Amino acid sequence: MTPSLLILTGAGISAESGLGTFRDTDGIWSQFDWQKLATPEGFAEDPVMVHAFYNARRKGLLDAQPNAAHTALATLEAAWVRSGGEFLLVTQNIDDLHARAGSERLIHMHGELLRARCAACGDLTACTADLSIAMSCQACGREGRLRPHVVWFGEMPMGMEEIFERLSRTTHFAAIGTSGAVWPAAGFAEEAARAGAETWELSLEAGESGHNFHHTLYGKATATVPDWCETVIARAFAA
Ligand code: APR
Repeated sequence: MTPSLLILTGAGISAESGLGTFRDTDGIWSQFDWQKLATPEGFAEDPVMVHAFYNARRKGLLDAQPNAAHTALATLEAAWVRSGGEFLLVTQNIDDLHARAGSERLIHMHGELLRARCAACGDLTACTADLSIAMSCQACGREGRLRPHVVWFGEMPMGMEEIFERLSRTTHFAAIGTSGAVWPAAGFAEEAARAGAETWELSLEAGESGHNFHHTLYGKATATVPDWCETVIARAFAA
């Protein structure tokens, strides 16, 4: 069977690049109200406040750099595919650090901070500057309908059909830097195990998904991920 690796990442992999996580001590959701800032209802009620929240995070992202964990996953992807395996990186993160590190087979299931979407016509555009309600869509011309291309609570994550199809036949699965607190991502490890995959958790501590991973590696991602990448490819393609 062709070795197939599906990796799920969360905010923890970008923590050492200086980007905040959500549920750690002093995490984003301990400082901000997710119901006001990360729901369609919150955006409808106060789009100016929601734009300000994402504009500040977008500015922070432009100053951040990929770290050794992002780079190790991009190197692993190239080696894994070169060895004839299948590879998919699914990230819950809305930063672009995986892409900047060189990852290609990548699904942003919670969207992307550096893209804007028109809520009227669906047009997607690159977005590195501030968004505001005074802006008009370049495609349909409507004013005040641009929003961050980010999946809010209560909205359908992206790429789910492809993700579940790949989970149904993956041979290796790893959850890296995620608390396993948010579904459907929290259920991916169980799905992979049901398909017979070997599963790993790499984080600071055990997550909340309740899945009993075959292997756990606790520590900072820049310390654990590069070594793990060496191990998993040797294991998968051992002669
Ligand atoms: N190295 C490895 N893991 C880390 C590090 C680090 N340096 N720092 C933190 N972590 C781990 C924490 O132990 C925690 O398990 O990363 C995880 C971060 O969990 P969350 O803050 O809950 O982030 P995440 O799992 O990505 O949240 C999922 O929730 O709010 C939504 O849309 C948001 O995509 C996000 C989703």
